[in-house]
Order: sequence, then C-alpha cells, then structure tokens
Amino acid sequence: MTSIKKVRKAVMPVAGLGTRFLPATKAMPKEMLTVVDKPIIQYAVEEAVAAGIEEIIFVTGRGKAALENHFDEPYELAQVLNAKGKTAELEAVTNMLPSNVRLVYTRQGSPKGLGHAIGCAADIVGDEPFAVLLPDDIIYNAHSTPLKDMVNLYEETGKSVVLAEEVPTERLKNYGILDVAGAAITNGQTDVAGFVEKPAPEDAPSNLGVVGRYVLSPEHFKYLLQGNIGAGGEIQLTDAMAEVAKTEGYKGLLLDGERFDCGDKVGFQMANLFFAMQDDYIAPRLQPFLQELARAQSKKAS
Ligand code: G1P
Repeated sequence: MTSIKKVRKAVMPVAGLGTRFLPATKAMPKEMLTVVDKPIIQYAVEEAVAAGIEEIIFVTGRGKAALENHFDEPYELAQVLNAKGKTAELEAVTNMLPSNVRLVYTRQGSPKGLGHAIGCAADIVGDEPFAVLLPDDIIYNAHSTPLKDMVNLYEETGKSVVLAEEVPTERLKNYGILDVAGAAITNGQTDVAGFVEKPAPEDAPSNLGVVGRYVLSPEHFKYLLQGNIGAGGEIQLTDAMAEVAKTEGYKGLLLDGERFDCGDKVGFQMANLFFAMQDDYIAPRLQPFLQELARAQSKKAS
C-alpha cells in the first residue's frame, strides 16, 4: 500500500466579484469586508494555519490586490506604530503568518465555477492531498479547529473528507448534498457514496450539505481539468468529488461548532454580532443595545 501523504497545502478561491455586497465591493474585494476587526479572509487563513497548513494558494482575479497587501509586512505603518509605542496595533499588523507558512497567488482568468477555480491550482498543488477553504464560510469552534480534525481523518484513512451540516429542506438547493447511501453517522463521521450539487429538495439524497471545508486527494484534479460543465452551467467541484467517491471512497465530518455564510448579507451580519459578543471590550457594551433593539423590534411587529 502506498503511504498516505501529509496535507500541507490549502487552496482558497477568492476571485468572486461579491455582487451581493455592492456597492461595498465595487472597489474592494469582498474577502476584505470586516467581521469585527479582521477581514473575512484572515479568518480562513488563521484556520488553515491552525490546522498545520504550510502553503496557502489564493486563486485570485482582477481587483484583488488588497488581499495580497493585507498579509505583507507593512514597513511604513510598522515604523509609525513603533515610534508611537502602539504595541497592540503593531502586533496586529506584523508577523501575521508563522515563518514556515507561505502564500502563493495564481489567477482564475475567467469565472467558470468553483471547480474551475480549484483546477487553476493543480500545478501548484501537484500530486499531494490538499485542503480547500471557501473563505465566505467562517467556521468557529472555541475548543478545536474542524479543519484540523478533517486533516487528521484524511491522514488516518487516506480518504477525502468534507465538512457537512444538516440543512433545512428549503435550503438544500443552495448546497452540495451528501449521498450517504444509508451509512450511519458514528462519532460525527460518515462514509459518503456520492454528492449532488444544488438538487431540488425531492432529488436530494440526504439533508446533509457540504459547508466550505474540504480535504481532497490529488485525484480530483483529473476530473476538474476535464472541464465538464455541471449545475448552473459551471465546472463544479461537487461533480469531481462524486467521481472520486466512486473510486476512492469519501468521508463526511459533521460540523461541531458555528458556521456563518458571509457570502450572504444575513450570515455576514450574524458573524459580526457573534464575534463582537466574543470580544471582552465590545460584548458588555453591545449587549444592552441589542436587547433594546430586539425589544423595539418586537413592539413594532406586534
Ligand atoms: C459552493 C459549493 C457547494 C457548497 C457551498 C458551501 O456553493 O458549490 O457545493 O455546499 O459552496 O458554502 P456556492 O455557495 O459557492 O454557491
């Protein structure tokens, strides 16, 4: 048996236009929208680093330079903060990545779907397993990093892993859905036989939807690079996953924690409130305001 390779690399597709957030995203990448005091992208990068990833590949596009600048050492700013003795602020903008982690940028020249974006990283990833993080999804668990658990599961079993959560019937059409073919969920894990991208509720093989974290075998590139068009007229990552599930098997890990879909205005606002309430300075000041707001809102509704 060939030995299972370590998961060292992660791909983050960040070429999307962010049209749902216009005009905010007219001149700024949607991944730079802030959740409390950090841009969305920083949550995903910190999660990847916490899971032991050493190389992060951004699949980027036009107008995304702010993302690259964000992770650079800011020499002038650092000098000013240093001279003013602003240590906390200096800390927040320097050494954002451990010295063993590097960022690599490649481009998705045209928007042909998530599967196409991941395929753009094929040569940089090469013949080894890799994580995919969709930065729109912010995942929170106070005690662990679900991506780390997924990496461990891959390294134990050699099978690709997706993070999944139960999805209400009316939202099944927004997700890649797992086909567990009757397999049981044990210790928050299940075997997966296949996937369907954004099915109508009556065609959905389960109520488990893929959330934006994956640990994938390099075999996926074989299918992604064939460029077959799937749901919505796009090259779908889910279709490559369905093919790989047939030959290599697949694992689903149920999300233990919170997930915020920051690609959506409601999820984005929830993420801001949630993370604000984790902050020792903001929480006690925000809470009375939120309670008052909720009271006023119920009065208005009644
Ligand atoms: C993508 C994937 C879908 C997955 C979802 C998770 O869809 O295609 O399979 O369930 O991310 O956020 P999107 O949200 O980009 O439409």
